[in-house]
Amino acid sequence: MSQLLELKGIHKRFSGVYALKGVDFEVKAGEIHALLGENGAGKSTLIKTIAGVHRPDEGSIRFKGKQVSFNNPRDAQAQGIDTVHQELSLYPELTVAENIFMGHAPKRQIGPFSFIDWGKMEERSKELLAELEVFDVDVRRIVGGFNVGNRQRVEIAKALSHNAQLLIMDEPTAALTEADVGQLFRIVRLLKERGVGIIFITHKLSEVFELCDRVTVLRDGEYIGTKEVKDTSERDLISMMVGRTIDQLFPKQESKFGEVVLEVRNLVREPYTRDVSFKVRAGEIVGLAGLVGSGRSETAQTIFGITPAQSGEILVNGKPLSISDPAQAVEAGIAYVPEDRGTQGLIKQMTIRDNVSLAVLKTLSTFSFIDFPKEDVLAKDAIKRFSIRAYGPEQRVNKLSGGNQQKVVLGKWLASEPKLLIMDEPTRGVDVGAKSEIHRLMSQLAAERGLAIIMISSELPEVLGMSDRVLVMKQGKIVAEFDRKDASQEKVGAAMMSERAA
Ligand SMILES: Nc1ncnc2c1ncn2[C@@H]1O[C@H](COP(=O)(O)OP(=O)(O)OP(=O)(O)O)[C@@H](O)[C@H]1O
Ligand SMILES: [Mg+2]
Repeated sequence: MSQLLELKGIHKRFSGVYALKGVDFEVKAGEIHALLGENGAGKSTLIKTIAGVHRPDEGSIRFKGKQVSFNNPRDAQAQGIDTVHQELSLYPELTVAENIFMGHAPKRQIGPFSFIDWGKMEERSKELLAELEVFDVDVRRIVGGFNVGNRQRVEIAKALSHNAQLLIMDEPTAALTEADVGQLFRIVRLLKERGVGIIFITHKLSEVFELCDRVTVLRDGEYIGTKEVKDTSERDLISMMVGRTIDQLFPKQESKFGEVVLEVRNLVREPYTRDVSFKVRAGEIVGLAGLVGSGRSETAQTIFGITPAQSGEILVNGKPLSISDPAQAVEAGIAYVPEDRGTQGLIKQMTIRDNVSLAVLKTLSTFSFIDFPKEDVLAKDAIKRFSIRAYGPEQRVNKLSGGNQQKVVLGKWLASEPKLLIMDEPTRGVDVGAKSEIHRLMSQLAAERGLAIIMISSELPEVLGMSDRVLVMKQGKIVAEFDRKDASQEKVGAAMMSERAA
């Protein structure tokens, strides 16, 4: 395999603080190269430097044997470098074909005038998707209504339309369903076959072993090393990433259960929640398993009052409540960490301090002015507890790395000291160290403070490792329930996939 990309001694500072300190990195044609590191290690910064979003302060980049320096992503694209970003970047109001050919639409010349050749654009879009063996995406449809999997396939087709030779993917599987991950792997392997070099960022080590050829690890902005995947192990990679070994990924403390904190009876919110009943006791962690679309997140949102119930009962500590908006849920002692931190969890232009104290403003303001020192303590506490990589409480959330934003969301809700904590995909996009820290904290809060926790997760090992009880949802109903000791990957998996519920 020939060398495609070669970086030497890359330095990048943001307002004087190093994000990258002398990083070396290389990718060969036809290679899938994993880029690993904890949240804030510099992965996204590195790939943005390759893709022309950032310019390095020092160091050299060679691509296809030539020294390059890109002023912007378009320059990089023109040379054959394309990115599927951590936050997908299609225009929701445009069609598939328009998105793919944004900025380089095929033209038709009539006399002295040139027009966009819509027919050709749609034709080419179809061909590009067919090259990826994607046949069920209508190129005339608006992208807005698509699920993440389809949007991502359109992004990849867009990269192909520029003849990408190096394709960069920043946590492409973070928000995908299992079926979509399968599709993505198939497409990535297809591109590899054709000699495309791929940089693949992920926090899921299993994906490194399943898909990738080599792996490079960054830590605190520094280059730690590169290995052939076949010559390394999960243990090795973890210790390269965090600088120590982590033995237990799901540390679960024994917990004594108290009284029932939450009970829902015959909860209905069409079309996703159809007759759901269950209880959660103090000190208990209840895991909600199910496929995407089974109604888990929607049920959580109904309990939290985002999409209020149409019928059924919600009881907190035995008291029936009508929760018609999140403020009432917070009042009742319920906290909710949403799945999508971008739109539901944080106010990105605000600082860490303001975000963390948002959920507890009531308790912080005596005589209606805000207790700033207390706010500071809460924020510093969250930063320390989750090792959030930030300059301090004053840093704006939109300048944090993706995983560190997730940690701020958790810090915010824990600061409100709830009775019931609902967490939807709590460790999506967070690194192994932080993941084990979040698990430890969940377990500890349940065991020592009697917090009742509902955890939604698409990672079965996480559900099985953390839950005292597992409920399986399908088509808006609970179709199976397992105690910790009876819950196995096979049984829970089988219940998730079982024939359609009536
Ligand atoms: N535009 C920016 N301005 C200031 N600091 C930034 C900016 N972009 C990134 N940083 C900082 O650079 C460091 C590296 O961030 P980066 O986003 O590269 O991490 P990452 O490895 O991608 O993490 P994650 O796994 O959480 O996505 C972080 O400390 C981050 O706060
Ligand atoms: Mg990142």
